[in-house]
Amino acid sequence: MPMGAGLLQQWLKTPALVGAILPSSQRLAKVMARHASDSDALVELGAGTGTITNELVRQHPAVPLILFEQNSILAGQLHRHFPHAQIVPECFHARTELLAHLPERTVFVSSLPFRSLPAHIAAPTVAVLHRLLTEAPQRRLIQFTYQPRAPFKAPAGLVWRRCVTVWRNAPPAGVWELRMPFRPRKHDSATLRTD
Ligand SMILES: C[S@@+](CC[C@H](N)C(=O)[O-])C[C@H]1O[C@@H](n2cnc3c(N)ncnc32)[C@H](O)[C@@H]1O
Repeated sequence: MPMGAGLLQQWLKTPALVGAILPSSQRLAKVMARHASDSDALVELGAGTGTITNELVRQHPAVPLILFEQNSILAGQLHRHFPHAQIVPECFHARTELLAHLPERTVFVSSLPFRSLPAHIAAPTVAVLHRLLTEAPQRRLIQFTYQPRAPFKAPAGLVWRRCVTVWRNAPPAGVWELRMPFRPRKHDSATLRTD
């Protein structure tokens, strides 16, 4: 589903915020959406032209969806294409009151270009994600990056896991997950004892 105004047009206006001249590939969108399984709410950060949104809706049709897109032209297009989603045409960190009652199993799916975002946007964005992810151990952030390392330094109490590399994307993209570390329950560790 190609949307009218392309990323290139918007990138020419604000390159550091848009971060890419091409939309995410279908392959990357499918992989990102697959890693967002088992959620009771989905929050997409930087939905852009809606390539990943399409897959989120296709793979998880019954899950409520909130889309953040700071570019008003792209946000308007998202509104027309995804009438059942809640579209927030602002920066993610600026509307935290909308995220006050998210369920325990919320997955955040992000295309935000953390490497190029100005510090006054990147820092509060990471701070909000830190708070939301440490509020509930089942919450996760799924983020892609074109760099060979984690998208940003893991905030205290959270760990990155590299999920997969999507080679059929220009350029190839690493898909990463940020969450609280898995702690085996008492029962699990008892089962593992060998003494
Ligand atoms: C790499 S592009 C979009 C990729 C998207 N998956 C696609 O295929 O179109 C990143 C998007 O994040 C948006 N963005 C950047 N900073 C943002 C922020 N703080 N909050 C919400 N959206 C933001 C940009 O406007 C841009 O549309």
